[in-house]
Amino acid sequence: MAFDDKIKELFEKRALAKLGGGQKRIDAQHKKGKLTARERIELLMDEGSFEEFDMFVTHNCHDFGLEKEQYMGDGVVTGYGTIDGRLVYVFSQDFTVFGGSLSEAYALKICKVLDKAMKVGAPVIGINDSGGARIQEGVKSLGGYAEIFQRNIMASGVIPQISAIFGPCAGGAVYSPALTDFTIMTKENSYMFVTGPKVVKTVTGEVVTDQELGGAMVHATKSGVTHFVADDEQEGILLIRKLLSYLPQNNLEDPPIAPCTDPIDRLEDSLNSIVPENPNKPYDVRDVIHSVVDFSEFLEVMRFYAANIVTGFARFNGISVGIVANQPNYLAGVLDINASRKAARFVRFCDAFNIPIITFVDVPGFLPGTDQEYGGIILHGAKLLFAYGEATVPKITIVLRKAYGGAYDVMSSKHLRGDINYAWPSAEIAVMGPKGAIEVLYQKKLVAIEDDQEREEYIRNHEEDYKAKFANPYNAAKYGYIDDVIEPRNTRFRIIRALQSLSTKKDSNPPKKHSNIPL
Ligand code: HXC
Repeated sequence: MAFDDKIKELFEKRALAKLGGGQKRIDAQHKKGKLTARERIELLMDEGSFEEFDMFVTHNCHDFGLEKEQYMGDGVVTGYGTIDGRLVYVFSQDFTVFGGSLSEAYALKICKVLDKAMKVGAPVIGINDSGGARIQEGVKSLGGYAEIFQRNIMASGVIPQISAIFGPCAGGAVYSPALTDFTIMTKENSYMFVTGPKVVKTVTGEVVTDQELGGAMVHATKSGVTHFVADDEQEGILLIRKLLSYLPQNNLEDPPIAPCTDPIDRLEDSLNSIVPENPNKPYDVRDVIHSVVDFSEFLEVMRFYAANIVTGFARFNGISVGIVANQPNYLAGVLDINASRKAARFVRFCDAFNIPIITFVDVPGFLPGTDQEYGGIILHGAKLLFAYGEATVPKITIVLRKAYGGAYDVMSSKHLRGDINYAWPSAEIAVMGPKGAIEVLYQKKLVAIEDDQEREEYIRNHEEDYKAKFANPYNAAKYGYIDDVIEPRNTRFRIIRALQSLSTKKDSNPPKKHSNIPL
């Protein structure tokens, strides 16, 4: 064959591979409002930066007549490229080939990408759109999944791993995204479940649709499986790019520092009056976050789940930080099972990837009740406590208002190696709120008072004493538990100074195989 013909053959093979399962199936994919595997990669990566691997791989299955049906690439597009000039590895499942189902050869392609990303220390993005294990391949497909899981586990805490779910993701296939750091689902076409509606109906008699069982909003609000919900794939891809901008390439690097023209000493007068005088009145802690971070930009993580705690990424003078904040606007910002789990995972991610943690505290305590106790709030609350106590990244805490009871300890207190702990003058740091405290302390006296009005009066008088003693930050500051009481409007500046002072922080935990966090 002449050399020119060889080149021609290469181009023809490439063109064929790029067609995946063929034009008809590409059209069907578009008709569902979905992009193809390659279109998604094109949108995700910097223009022209994508280099594909294993375009000519085919499956090795000889059962069910599959040997006659071969598609180059075998249902997954893999390779590397750049996002904002930074190296990333990617795999994108191609639904047009056997419904994106996973064969042994397909799994090896994904494993290759994960191995390479680990070697060079670059993030991996997986775009999922698949019918799960390729049924014709039997246990080889199951083995293929487990090979991927093992690599996801080894890569955890070493390189950032992000999963986009842009179609079906069912059966054991859900466990790869679940092992990664962040999951993004689209509102319309994506769903995740371990067993689908048909099996559910057979086993439990329950009738549900795909969306009711495992749609994006279900996982965003009820299960907490997904961290982000995008209106469509385009928005989902933009979210991935944005998320990466806050993250380092791997656990040995610091996150990139963004240029910042937002003045570091910008005073935000509104903060001096944001906390209502009445301690039982709510306010939106997002207003505090937006007014102190660079350009008011805050990428909220798990926005729809456990709204009583807010988590997300932002920057201070270009420095990437993770923010955790109790939300007085929802359940008074109480810590419950879901809030503890959500925040604990976020704190651990930040710590694994050298992202300083800023904690805004306004928490009345842990949520009481049988629901919470039977659900194991003791263990779940301990997760957050553990995560903060274990974290060695810079930890800056601002007590805005309430820091009561165990929740005071948990929320990045000085005693959990909080580096710099500030409080606003509105802070109230105590074992419990005034009313509860008086009812415990003067129980016998109160029982003896028969007249209701007289009893109320007694409580009120003692409440005033209690408030004077504890409903302020100075008692904690007296012991050095609070490093300084700061003017709210100056919070941005004080956080930036604190971050600067901690930029060379070194801290470590004792050598061990791994900790035993209460899972
Ligand atoms: C082989 C599959 C397949 C699979 C789909 N296809 N899933 N081929 N193995 N798992 C093929 C279909 O036969 C069809 O081929 C093409 O992909 C497109 O599928 P459709 O059904 O036409 O598409 P759609 O109507 O959009 O439905 C998509 C779907 C459905 C909901 C994903 O295909 C489906 O339910 N598939 C089976 C899902 C499943 O049970 N997977 C196993 C899960 S268990 P043609 O040639 O007709 O176009 C599992 C275990 C993993 O994954 C364990 C890991 C530890």
